[in-house]
Amino acid sequence: MNRPMHQPANRPMHQPMDRPMHRPSNRPMHRPDVILTGIKPTGSPHLGNYIGAIRPALELARRSPEAHAMFFLADYHALTLVKDPARFRDLCHELAATWIACGLDHERQVFYRQSDVPEVFELSWILSCSTSKGLMNRAHAYKAQVDRHRRGAGVADGRDADGGKADAGGEVSDAGVVAGRDVDAGVNMGLYSYPILMAADILLFQAKYVPVGRDQEQHIEIARDIAARFNRSFGEVLTLPLYLSDPTSAEIPGTDGRKMSKAYNNTIPLFGSREQLRKAIFGIRTDSSPPGTPRDPGTSLVFQIYRQFADGDRTEAMRSRLLRGRITWKAAKEELFDLVDGMLERPRAVYEELMADRSRIDRLLEAGARSARELARPTMEIVRQAVGR
Ligand code: ADP
Ligand code: TRP
Repeated sequence: MNRPMHQPANRPMHQPMDRPMHRPSNRPMHRPDVILTGIKPTGSPHLGNYIGAIRPALELARRSPEAHAMFFLADYHALTLVKDPARFRDLCHELAATWIACGLDHERQVFYRQSDVPEVFELSWILSCSTSKGLMNRAHAYKAQVDRHRRGAGVADGRDADGGKADAGGEVSDAGVVAGRDVDAGVNMGLYSYPILMAADILLFQAKYVPVGRDQEQHIEIARDIAARFNRSFGEVLTLPLYLSDPTSAEIPGTDGRKMSKAYNNTIPLFGSREQLRKAIFGIRTDSSPPGTPRDPGTSLVFQIYRQFADGDRTEAMRSRLLRGRITWKAAKEELFDLVDGMLERPRAVYEELMADRSRIDRLLEAGARSARELARPTMEIVRQAVGR
């Protein structure tokens, strides 16, 4: 969104200790720093995606005009989960329209669809050949799935990663069987090697800064490890990326109090209709205390979401009214709705206009992919040469 939503301008971003970066002799020199991030189209974008990923990434790009900003649809990453082609196409368009409606400037920033850049997949294979399987075993997404099987809990939403019915696979007798259960049941190879593809997304463009939500930090660490390993074998070819995440913008809760996530069906959609927005906001869980009861803002889901959108003064005013029991939940939800709805009004118009002309979205993405492939070329030339091709 052009009007920046509330986020203190110079809020410190969190990043790991910046180890000295070796300037490679065979890496392209004098290129501007690259800021790069992507989101996968696995569901309709929600307020959590906006607060945790889209807004900070666009603000970082705005604050760093000298850097080269690249944003992309991580579409093939979504294939680990999405198996319906028509839905997949819709989700890609929705996500692209969302980025642009939220303020991405496709004239100044490179905006593309991952699958339009075949170099990503070539690099991914090359990297997978020097990445240890053990590194993948430690990745959170895979481990979480395995832990669920170890506990005998099945998978998060009752489906396996292929969208099918999870299968305990008790007869498989290899190292992956624990107490008669195949801990890898429901894990497709895409999910397992996801961090390598993500590393390729980043390393292909020699990205230095990767703004992500906190749940993605480990993936960037893995990309660093993969790059360092490659460089040790083949020379200083790849830039080691750093993640940038914002420690003060905690994960925003969904309507039921868990992390807002497509997987939990507890989201507030970013670009649904106004009615959908109202319905989702009025569905936020509250307690049944009578009007006049002092309320703890720290445990109020309505307040946790409100403070991400309101400026400092409005946030303090709301906090104080809750503490003094001067606002009903209904009124607080009404205010949250007005605030979010007001901020979304213009972006929603842009979004709807784009969604009504999807060929325009495709053209924008194709133009972006041409620039991206151009930028990928030098890295791929060096990588191919380095491995001896
Ligand atoms: P979901 O959990 O809905 O599937 P994704 O995993 O696709 O969302 O996340 C896309 C981006 O949005 C990531 O960078 C992630 O950190 C961020 N994000 C997702 N949910 C939230 C949330 N509730 N609060 C803050 N950031 C979030
Ligand atoms: N894994 C990220 C997510 O789930 C999406 C992603 C794929 C990404 N490739 C990336 C993010 C490269 C940053 C950089 O949200």
